[in-house]
Amino acid sequence: MRFVTHLESAIDGTRLDANQLQTVHQDRPLWVRYDLEGIKKHVDRDALAAREATMWRYRELLPLDDQVSPVSLCETITPVINCPQLATDAGVREVWVKDESRLPTGSFKSRGMTMAISMAHFFGVRRVALPSAGNAGGAAAFYAARAGMEAYVFMPEDTPVINQHEAALAGARTFLVNGLINHCGAIVREGAEKMQWFDLSTLKEPYRIEGKKTMGLELAQQFQWKLPDVILYPTGGGTGLIGMWKAFQELTQLGWLDSKRLPKMVSVQSDGCAPIARAYDDGERFATLHENADTIARGIRVPAAVGDFMILDAVRESGGTAIAVPEEQIVSRMQTATRATGIAICPETAACISALDQLSKQGWLSDDQRIVVFNTGAAQKYLEAIEQPLPVIDRHQPLDWEFIENGR
Ligand SMILES: Cc1ncc(COP(=O)(O)O)c(C=O)c1O
Repeated sequence: MRFVTHLESAIDGTRLDANQLQTVHQDRPLWVRYDLEGIKKHVDRDALAAREATMWRYRELLPLDDQVSPVSLCETITPVINCPQLATDAGVREVWVKDESRLPTGSFKSRGMTMAISMAHFFGVRRVALPSAGNAGGAAAFYAARAGMEAYVFMPEDTPVINQHEAALAGARTFLVNGLINHCGAIVREGAEKMQWFDLSTLKEPYRIEGKKTMGLELAQQFQWKLPDVILYPTGGGTGLIGMWKAFQELTQLGWLDSKRLPKMVSVQSDGCAPIARAYDDGERFATLHENADTIARGIRVPAAVGDFMILDAVRESGGTAIAVPEEQIVSRMQTATRATGIAICPETAACISALDQLSKQGWLSDDQRIVVFNTGAAQKYLEAIEQPLPVIDRHQPLDWEFIENGR
């Protein structure tokens, strides 16, 4: 059984057949649409908690027929952790971190990839390719390995070294390109015909969003079907933010939420690469390319996003905002936020912690709000950002306890 009715163009509403492999319509993304009335009759919201604690517990709201086994590595429900020190530091009431680093390959990208590769596998795809800022390439490589598919990954040459090697470790043909993710994307597009691969790029197929949507479904369930007031999300291609906003619309239509108030969605970028924040400030629906984009938070180094209008629509519909934070704060925020929480905060999320302070100082946040920040990946995957010289002990010399006490 599956409840998918059709695919719908996000740009002009054209209906497309969901029973065949689809990509984009007029170069813009597709939504997956469901028979929500049917789901409402079939699923008891309160019975979901008794199902297996993975994202597949929301099976009826996902596009894969329930008779088909997903290509899965056990995409566990991620914890949402109260972080009082972050709240105190920002001068707000409650900050929770939803820790996506617990997922296979250490980032939220596995949600999208388990879904996209399961669907591609179902439709008979044997070879996939994608450009990646890092984590998506790693995740795609592992899920492709799981499915027995060939994977081709194209990454900027300065992609975090762990991402480069994890993709190769899992058997993907992994290439470093002297350019940014958009240049890598151009290679995937150019090779489509010659190499006969299926393009798994962000929003170039409809299913990665559906996997990411489960972040929103989980969050709703974890907060007893009352969503938080504000969500801060690091934004690159935007599937995470778009997927969550779609989840909230579907939950509203299903009547599963106990409060009608939806969270304000905050799209966070670095001022080193802020096409969405800039378009938001300029009142535009489409973003322009951010020239010479650079940020240590490589996952959000996306100078042009094919789903720009979907991100901006979600932010505006929710009453949220889009914000760029100073690049130079990111590494120090990783350290302070990790020390304040005990959670290995990735650079993309460190940008969100900066945004928290910035929005609080601007008076955009109020002190009665429950705020959720997504830790989209594990800090340990960013050797370049966490590496620091460590003091060395010569075991042949008498121990210097003052040196040891101070760590230097
Ligand atoms: C750790 C991390 N956070 C955030 C993002 C941005 O994700 P999205 O493409 O959903 O905007 C990425 C994308 O690579 C990422 O790896």
